[in-house]
Amino acid sequence: MDVSQWIDPDRGLIRGEIFHSQEVYAQELEQVFARSWIFLAHDAMLPQPGDFIQNYIGEDPVLVVRQPDGTVKAFLNQCRHRGMRLCRADTGNARNFMCSFHGWNYGLDGRVINIPHGEEIYDAKDREQFRATEVRLANYKGFIFGTWDTTAPEFEEYLGDFAWYFDAYIDRYEGGLEIVGLHKWVIPANWKFNAEQPTSDMYHGEVTHASAFQVMMPTPVDANSPPPDWAMKQLGQLASPAGFQFVSPYGHGTGWFAGGMPVMNETIYRWQEATKDQVAARLGPQRVTAHGHANIFPNFMMLSNYTFRVTHPRGPNEMEIWAWSMAPVAAPAEVKEAIRLDLLRTFSPAGMFEQDDAVNWEEEQRILRGYMARKVPLIYKQMLGRARYDADGLPGRTVPHVYAEEGARGMYRHYIDIMSGAPWPDLARLKQRREDGERSATAAPAKPDSFAA
Ligand code: FES
Ligand SMILES: [Fe+2]
Repeated sequence: MDVSQWIDPDRGLIRGEIFHSQEVYAQELEQVFARSWIFLAHDAMLPQPGDFIQNYIGEDPVLVVRQPDGTVKAFLNQCRHRGMRLCRADTGNARNFMCSFHGWNYGLDGRVINIPHGEEIYDAKDREQFRATEVRLANYKGFIFGTWDTTAPEFEEYLGDFAWYFDAYIDRYEGGLEIVGLHKWVIPANWKFNAEQPTSDMYHGEVTHASAFQVMMPTPVDANSPPPDWAMKQLGQLASPAGFQFVSPYGHGTGWFAGGMPVMNETIYRWQEATKDQVAARLGPQRVTAHGHANIFPNFMMLSNYTFRVTHPRGPNEMEIWAWSMAPVAAPAEVKEAIRLDLLRTFSPAGMFEQDDAVNWEEEQRILRGYMARKVPLIYKQMLGRARYDADGLPGRTVPHVYAEEGARGMYRHYIDIMSGAPWPDLARLKQRREDGERSATAAPAKPDSFAA
């Protein structure tokens, strides 16, 4: 199915069919999820040999396991015998994995090490070949991504210029990140509504989250006093939304306020202010604030409040969100606790911001049951034609406004590419050609006005 019939990234128009169709969804599992790099685990989730976590590539369950030699392996969490879920725990520590159907036993590396009555009923040579299907892995600064596709570009190439922005989330402080919380929940809406938001949509914040910002404001000392200065400064970011948006040829995107994301928690705010120079010395002054919201295509999102989450697709009309709160190891204990509580209050299933977002996505999805609602093109034109390369000291393709849809247009441009089923080497060449063309077009000097027709 050619999804470009519904998506026109050059004109910024998208028809809702891509969020609704069962056929499109089946194609996404095959072309998007099975061929992209998917976040599976963080080193901090697997400190000891035998530690494992169960995660998903699309709808395929995957077991990620720390090996006795300290490396990590991942394999399809499906028994080779009748396809039962091999390990049914979400996380834990194991010496091996025994299938609870007929008792086949697998080692930490996914090899079958024992089969009940196996000597009598199987040929020994066959048994050697039984093993769980392995996932190709990459580890970027502790973040473990996996893909089934052995022809996909190396992970660093897939990240491209986004690595510079990713580091602003994961490498701000010496010592990396640790896990301080995890929540899982289901939203009856298409996974792309969530993916496109941190890629592109900062615009909804001042309306969708208006009441949440008000509630999160610290209580004044008395009824006649305004909220404290530090909190008023945070809301000021929304009033004058200067900022940027970046988009990658592989569909990753990020956006941020030039003055920094609003932080509504005083403990976190004061710690961030106190360590600003430290972050600037580590990452350069620009990346102190290049820290808003972001998505690594297709489904790994992060926010400046140390939320990292995957959106697992569950049919065209449902997504399952897993959100980790990861705090800098270098942060004091009270800041780590504040980060954990902040996730609870904002982007957990009970979080105010999360509920605000979910209402929008659910309504969008419900409306798409209609016929006309799926035909009318939706408008993704913010900052259309305003992208530049390597401008303002920012690597890659950016637009100079935090309220923009360049991120979404880029995400769906890549979505068309990968959904076409074209082999990865062809896609890589196509993207290079496209970028070369765009770079030379944006580098051309603008015509003086007097020459205008
Ligand atoms: S399905 Fe796993 S042992 Fe039979
Ligand atoms: Fe939101």
